[in-house]
Amino acid sequence: LKPRVFITKPIPKKVENYIAHFCEYKIWNSMNSIPKETLIKEIRHVDGLMNSNYKISKEILEAAPFLKIISNISVGYDSFDIKEMLRRKIMGTNTPKVLEESVADLTIGLILSISRRIPELNNMIKKGEWDKPSDFYLGIDVHQSTLGIIGMGRIGEEIAKRATLGFEMDVLYYNRSRKIDVEKKYSVTYTKLDKLLEKSDFVLIMLPLTKQTYKYIGAKQFKKMKKSAFLINCSRGEVINEQELINALLTNEIAGSALDVYEQEPISKRNPLLKMDNVVMTPHIGSATKNTRYNMAMKAAKNLVSGLMGEKPYDIVPELKQLIN
Ligand code: DGY
Repeated sequence: LKPRVFITKPIPKKVENYIAHFCEYKIWNSMNSIPKETLIKEIRHVDGLMNSNYKISKEILEAAPFLKIISNISVGYDSFDIKEMLRRKIMGTNTPKVLEESVADLTIGLILSISRRIPELNNMIKKGEWDKPSDFYLGIDVHQSTLGIIGMGRIGEEIAKRATLGFEMDVLYYNRSRKIDVEKKYSVTYTKLDKLLEKSDFVLIMLPLTKQTYKYIGAKQFKKMKKSAFLINCSRGEVINEQELINALLTNEIAGSALDVYEQEPISKRNPLLKMDNVVMTPHIGSATKNTRYNMAMKAAKNLVSGLMGEKPYDIVPELKQLIN
Protein backbone atom coordinates (compact mmCIF):
# COMPACT_ATOMS: atom_id res chain seq x y z
CA LEU A 1 0.00 0.00 0.00
CA LYS A 2 1.41 3.38 -1.01
CA PRO A 3 1.50 6.17 1.58
CA ARG A 4 -1.11 8.89 1.15
CA VAL A 5 -0.14 12.46 0.53
CA PHE A 6 -1.87 15.80 0.13
CA ILE A 7 -0.25 18.72 -1.72
CA THR A 8 -1.54 22.21 -0.88
CA LYS A 9 -0.50 23.98 -4.10
CA PRO A 10 0.15 23.31 -7.79
CA ILE A 11 3.58 21.82 -8.55
CA PRO A 12 5.40 21.03 -11.83
CA LYS A 13 4.10 17.91 -13.61
CA LYS A 14 7.48 16.15 -13.45
CA VAL A 15 7.51 16.55 -9.67
CA GLU A 16 3.94 15.27 -9.49
CA ASN A 17 5.01 12.21 -11.51
CA TYR A 18 7.88 11.57 -9.11
CA ILE A 19 5.50 11.64 -6.17
CA ALA A 20 2.98 9.44 -8.03
CA HIS A 21 5.64 6.77 -8.34
CA PHE A 22 5.83 6.36 -4.57
CA CYS A 23 2.59 7.76 -3.14
CA GLU A 24 -1.12 8.04 -3.61
CA TYR A 25 -1.75 11.74 -3.73
CA LYS A 26 -4.27 14.51 -4.09
CA ILE A 27 -3.40 18.06 -4.99
CA TRP A 28 -5.02 21.50 -4.53
CA ASN A 29 -4.59 22.68 -8.09
CA SER A 30 -5.80 26.24 -7.73
CA MET A 31 -3.81 29.46 -7.51
CA ASN A 32 -6.04 30.57 -4.62
CA SER A 33 -4.99 29.42 -1.20
CA ILE A 34 -6.84 26.29 -0.03
CA PRO A 35 -9.69 27.06 2.42
CA LYS A 36 -8.96 25.71 5.89
CA GLU A 37 -12.13 23.57 5.99
CA THR A 38 -11.12 21.86 2.73
CA LEU A 39 -7.62 21.19 3.96
CA ILE A 40 -8.94 19.76 7.20
CA LYS A 41 -11.22 17.39 5.26
CA GLU A 42 -8.47 16.34 2.85
CA ILE A 43 -5.82 15.44 5.40
CA ARG A 44 -7.84 13.12 7.63
CA HIS A 45 -6.11 9.99 6.27
CA VAL A 46 -2.79 11.31 4.94
CA ASP A 47 0.72 10.29 5.97
CA GLY A 48 2.42 13.21 4.28
CA LEU A 49 1.70 16.83 3.51
CA MET A 50 3.47 18.97 0.95
CA ASN A 51 3.06 22.64 1.69
CA SER A 52 4.65 26.04 1.26
CA ASN A 53 3.69 29.02 3.42
CA TYR A 54 0.27 27.85 4.64
CA LYS A 55 0.29 28.00 8.45
CA ILE A 56 -0.13 24.48 9.77
CA SER A 57 -1.80 25.24 13.08
CA LYS A 58 -2.53 22.93 15.97
CA GLU A 59 -6.11 22.66 14.71
CA ILE A 60 -4.91 21.41 11.33
CA LEU A 61 -2.47 18.93 12.91
CA GLU A 62 -5.31 17.67 15.08
CA ALA A 63 -7.25 16.81 11.92
CA ALA A 64 -4.44 14.61 10.57
CA PRO A 65 -3.84 11.84 13.12
CA PHE A 66 -1.66 9.75 10.74
CA LEU A 67 0.60 12.57 9.58
CA LYS A 68 4.31 11.70 9.67
CA ILE A 69 5.92 14.48 7.65
CA ILE A 70 5.28 18.00 6.40
CA SER A 71 7.55 18.85 3.49
CA ASN A 72 7.70 22.58 2.80
CA ILE A 73 8.44 23.91 -0.68
CA SER A 74 10.22 26.87 0.90
CA VAL A 75 13.30 27.61 2.90
CA GLY A 76 11.25 29.45 5.55
CA TYR A 77 9.35 27.21 7.94
CA ASP A 78 7.57 29.72 10.13
CA SER A 79 4.44 27.86 8.93
CA PHE A 80 5.39 24.97 11.26
CA ASP A 81 4.13 24.71 14.84
CA ILE A 82 7.42 23.24 16.05
CA LYS A 83 6.25 22.46 19.58
CA GLU A 84 3.17 20.60 18.39
CA MET A 85 5.13 18.75 15.69
CA LEU A 86 7.65 17.60 18.29
CA ARG A 87 4.84 16.42 20.54
CA ARG A 88 3.17 14.50 17.72
CA LYS A 89 6.49 13.27 16.27
CA ILE A 90 5.82 14.83 12.87
CA MET A 91 8.94 15.51 10.81
CA GLY A 92 9.27 18.81 8.97
CA THR A 93 11.57 19.64 6.05
CA ASN A 94 12.42 22.74 4.02
CA THR A 95 14.33 23.48 0.80
CA PRO A 96 17.67 25.16 1.51
CA LYS A 97 20.57 25.48 -0.96
CA VAL A 98 18.51 25.80 -4.15
CA LEU A 99 17.01 29.29 -3.90
CA GLU A 100 19.64 31.55 -2.31
CA GLU A 101 20.95 32.95 -5.59
CA SER A 102 17.48 33.74 -6.97
CA VAL A 103 16.51 35.60 -3.80
CA ALA A 104 19.81 37.49 -3.85
CA ASP A 105 19.24 38.49 -7.50
CA LEU A 106 15.80 39.88 -6.68
CA THR A 107 17.14 41.75 -3.66
CA ILE A 108 19.73 43.53 -5.79
CA GLY A 109 16.93 44.30 -8.26
CA LEU A 110 14.88 45.91 -5.49
CA ILE A 111 17.85 47.97 -4.31
CA LEU A 112 18.38 49.26 -7.85
CA SER A 113 14.65 49.83 -8.35
CA ILE A 114 14.18 51.98 -5.29
CA SER A 115 17.41 53.95 -5.57
CA ARG A 116 17.10 54.73 -9.29
CA ARG A 117 13.28 54.95 -9.09
CA ILE A 118 12.88 52.46 -11.94
CA PRO A 119 9.20 51.47 -11.39
CA GLU A 120 8.12 55.07 -10.69
CA LEU A 121 9.82 56.46 -13.81
CA ASN A 122 8.67 53.49 -15.88
CA ASN A 123 5.08 54.38 -14.97
CA MET A 124 5.63 58.04 -15.82
CA ILE A 125 7.11 57.46 -19.26
CA LYS A 126 4.38 54.98 -20.15
CA LYS A 127 1.78 57.60 -19.24
CA GLY A 128 3.45 59.98 -21.72
CA GLU A 129 4.93 62.12 -18.98
CA TRP A 130 8.53 62.64 -20.18
CA ASP A 131 8.17 66.36 -19.69
CA LYS A 132 10.18 67.20 -16.58
CA PRO A 133 13.53 69.00 -16.24
CA SER A 134 16.25 66.36 -16.28
CA ASP A 135 17.07 66.94 -12.60
CA PHE A 136 13.66 65.60 -11.74
CA TYR A 137 14.79 62.07 -12.60
CA LEU A 138 17.78 61.94 -10.30
CA GLY A 139 18.27 58.98 -8.02
CA ILE A 140 20.87 57.68 -5.59
CA ASP A 141 24.03 55.69 -6.45
CA VAL A 142 24.18 52.06 -5.42
CA HIS A 143 27.86 51.47 -6.21
CA GLN A 144 30.21 52.29 -3.35
CA SER A 145 27.33 53.00 -0.97
CA THR A 146 26.89 51.22 2.37
CA LEU A 147 24.67 48.16 2.65
CA GLY A 148 23.69 46.85 6.10
CA ILE A 149 22.48 43.25 6.12
CA ILE A 150 20.53 42.14 9.19
CA GLY A 151 20.69 38.33 9.16
CA MET A 152 23.74 36.74 7.54
CA GLY A 153 22.51 33.32 6.46
CA ARG A 154 23.11 31.71 3.08
CA ILE A 155 20.95 34.29 1.28
CA GLY A 156 22.70 37.16 3.07
CA GLU A 157 26.00 35.75 1.91
CA GLU A 158 24.91 35.64 -1.76
CA ILE A 159 23.77 39.27 -1.47
CA ALA A 160 27.06 40.27 0.15
CA LYS A 161 28.90 38.60 -2.75
CA ARG A 162 26.95 40.59 -5.36
CA ALA A 163 27.19 43.84 -3.38
CA THR A 164 30.94 43.73 -2.76
CA LEU A 165 32.25 42.11 -5.95
CA GLY A 166 29.73 43.73 -8.31
CA PHE A 167 28.94 47.10 -6.81
CA GLU A 168 31.96 47.70 -4.55
CA MET A 169 29.55 48.39 -1.70
CA ASP A 170 30.74 48.65 1.84
CA VAL A 171 28.84 45.79 3.50
CA LEU A 172 28.08 45.76 7.23
CA TYR A 173 26.18 42.90 8.79
CA TYR A 174 24.53 41.98 12.04
CA ASN A 175 23.81 38.40 12.99
CA ARG A 176 23.30 36.29 16.11
CA SER A 177 26.73 34.78 15.53
CA ARG A 178 29.68 36.15 13.63
CA LYS A 179 30.44 34.62 10.23
CA ILE A 180 34.21 34.80 10.04
CA ASP A 181 34.32 32.83 6.77
CA VAL A 182 31.98 35.32 5.06
CA GLU A 183 33.96 38.24 6.51
CA LYS A 184 37.12 36.83 4.99
CA LYS A 185 35.59 35.90 1.64
CA TYR A 186 33.81 39.17 0.90
CA SER A 187 35.39 41.73 3.26
CA VAL A 188 32.13 42.34 5.11
CA THR A 189 32.21 43.86 8.59
CA TYR A 190 30.35 42.60 11.64
CA THR A 191 28.63 45.58 13.31
CA LYS A 192 26.30 46.10 16.25
CA LEU A 193 22.71 46.62 15.13
CA ASP A 194 22.52 50.30 16.13
CA LYS A 195 25.70 51.17 14.30
CA LEU A 196 24.54 49.30 11.20
CA LEU A 197 21.28 51.29 11.24
CA GLU A 198 23.12 54.59 11.66
CA LYS A 199 25.65 53.99 8.88
CA SER A 200 23.80 52.17 6.11
CA ASP A 201 22.36 53.71 2.95
CA PHE A 202 20.40 50.49 2.44
CA VAL A 203 19.20 48.44 5.40
CA LEU A 204 18.31 44.93 4.32
CA ILE A 205 16.30 42.53 6.47
CA MET A 206 17.16 38.90 5.78
CA LEU A 207 15.94 37.23 9.00
CA PRO A 208 13.82 34.12 9.40
CA LEU A 209 10.53 34.69 11.23
CA THR A 210 10.66 33.29 14.77
CA LYS A 211 9.29 34.32 18.16
CA GLN A 212 12.50 36.34 18.64
CA THR A 213 12.34 38.16 15.30
CA TYR A 214 8.60 38.92 15.28
CA LYS A 215 8.27 42.72 14.73
CA TYR A 216 11.99 43.01 15.45
CA ILE A 217 12.36 46.15 13.33
CA GLY A 218 10.08 49.08 14.16
CA ALA A 219 9.88 52.79 15.04
CA LYS A 220 12.95 52.71 17.28
CA GLN A 221 15.11 51.26 14.53
CA PHE A 222 13.72 53.55 11.80
CA LYS A 223 14.63 56.57 13.97
CA LYS A 224 18.24 55.39 14.06
CA MET A 225 18.45 55.13 10.25
CA LYS A 226 19.64 58.01 8.06
CA LYS A 227 16.81 60.09 6.63
CA SER A 228 18.26 59.31 3.20
CA ALA A 229 18.31 55.54 3.77
CA PHE A 230 16.10 52.84 2.28
CA LEU A 231 14.69 49.78 4.00
CA ILE A 232 14.58 46.53 1.99
CA ASN A 233 12.80 43.36 3.15
CA CYS A 234 12.97 40.05 1.30
CA SER A 235 12.50 37.67 4.24
CA ARG A 236 9.16 37.72 6.06
CA GLY A 237 6.74 40.63 6.49
CA GLU A 238 6.14 40.05 10.20
CA VAL A 239 9.81 40.69 11.03
CA ILE A 240 8.93 44.38 10.55
CA ASN A 241 6.26 46.34 12.35
CA GLU A 242 4.49 47.34 9.14
CA GLN A 243 2.37 50.11 10.67
CA GLU A 244 5.50 51.70 12.12
CA LEU A 245 7.19 51.42 8.73
CA ILE A 246 4.23 53.21 7.16
CA ASN A 247 4.53 55.97 9.80
CA ALA A 248 8.30 56.28 9.21
CA LEU A 249 7.68 56.67 5.47
CA LEU A 250 4.86 59.20 5.95
CA THR A 251 6.97 61.34 8.29
CA ASN A 252 10.12 61.08 6.10
CA GLU A 253 12.00 59.36 8.87
CA ILE A 254 13.50 57.24 6.06
CA ALA A 255 13.68 57.88 2.31
CA GLY A 256 11.84 54.85 1.02
CA SER A 257 11.39 51.12 1.06
CA ALA A 258 11.46 48.14 -1.27
CA LEU A 259 9.45 45.15 -0.12
CA ASP A 260 8.81 41.62 -1.32
CA VAL A 261 6.98 40.44 1.82
CA TYR A 262 4.17 41.79 3.99
CA GLU A 263 2.36 41.22 7.25
CA GLN A 264 -0.64 40.07 5.27
CA GLU A 265 -0.27 38.17 1.97
CA PRO A 266 -1.88 38.83 -0.43
CA ILE A 267 -1.73 42.41 0.83
CA SER A 268 -4.97 44.27 1.59
CA LYS A 269 -6.07 46.59 -1.23
CA ARG A 270 -6.38 49.33 1.41
CA ASN A 271 -2.74 49.10 2.57
CA PRO A 272 -1.29 52.67 2.40
CA LEU A 273 2.05 51.29 1.10
CA LEU A 274 0.32 50.70 -2.24
CA LYS A 275 -0.12 54.44 -2.74
CA MET A 276 3.44 55.56 -1.94
CA ASP A 277 5.79 56.59 -4.76
CA ASN A 278 8.84 55.96 -2.59
CA VAL A 279 7.89 52.31 -2.05
CA VAL A 280 8.67 49.53 -4.54
CA MET A 281 6.70 46.34 -4.08
CA THR A 282 6.78 42.81 -5.46
CA PRO A 283 4.38 39.97 -4.53
CA HIS A 284 6.67 37.59 -2.54
CA ILE A 285 8.68 36.47 -5.57
CA GLY A 286 12.18 36.10 -4.08
CA SER A 287 12.54 32.50 -5.23
CA ALA A 288 10.05 32.72 -8.08
CA THR A 289 12.01 31.75 -11.17
CA LYS A 290 11.05 28.71 -13.26
CA ASN A 291 14.28 26.93 -12.54
CA THR A 292 14.43 27.62 -8.83
CA ARG A 293 10.77 26.84 -8.16
CA TYR A 294 11.20 23.53 -10.02
CA ASN A 295 14.29 22.69 -7.98
CA MET A 296 12.49 23.61 -4.75
CA ALA A 297 9.48 21.45 -5.59
CA MET A 298 11.68 18.48 -6.56
CA LYS A 299 13.74 18.83 -3.39
CA ALA A 300 10.56 18.98 -1.31
CA ALA A 301 9.22 15.88 -3.11
CA LYS A 302 12.42 13.95 -2.35
CA ASN A 303 12.31 15.01 1.29
CA LEU A 304 8.67 13.90 1.48
CA VAL A 305 9.24 10.51 -0.13
CA SER A 306 12.35 9.75 1.91
CA GLY A 307 10.49 10.55 5.15
CA LEU A 308 7.58 8.34 4.15
CA MET A 309 9.89 5.48 3.12
CA GLY A 310 11.40 5.39 6.59
CA GLU A 311 14.66 7.07 5.63
CA LYS A 312 16.03 10.19 7.31
CA PRO A 313 14.91 13.14 5.21
CA TYR A 314 17.91 15.18 4.19
CA ASP A 315 16.48 18.61 4.94
CA ILE A 316 14.78 18.02 8.27
CA VAL A 317 14.77 21.42 10.02
CA PRO A 318 17.19 21.80 12.96
CA GLU A 319 14.45 22.16 15.61
CA LEU A 320 13.02 18.74 14.64
CA LYS A 321 16.29 16.84 14.09
CA GLN A 322 15.83 14.99 17.37
CA LEU A 323 12.92 13.08 15.78
CA ILE A 324 15.24 11.17 13.44
CA ASN A 325 18.12 10.45 15.81
C1 DGY B 1 10.85 30.70 1.08
O1 DGY B 1 11.41 29.78 0.50
O2 DGY B 1 10.73 30.73 2.31
C2 DGY B 1 10.28 31.78 0.24
O3 DGY B 1 9.85 32.86 0.98
C3 DGY B 1 9.16 31.24 -0.61
O4 DGY B 1 8.13 30.85 0.20
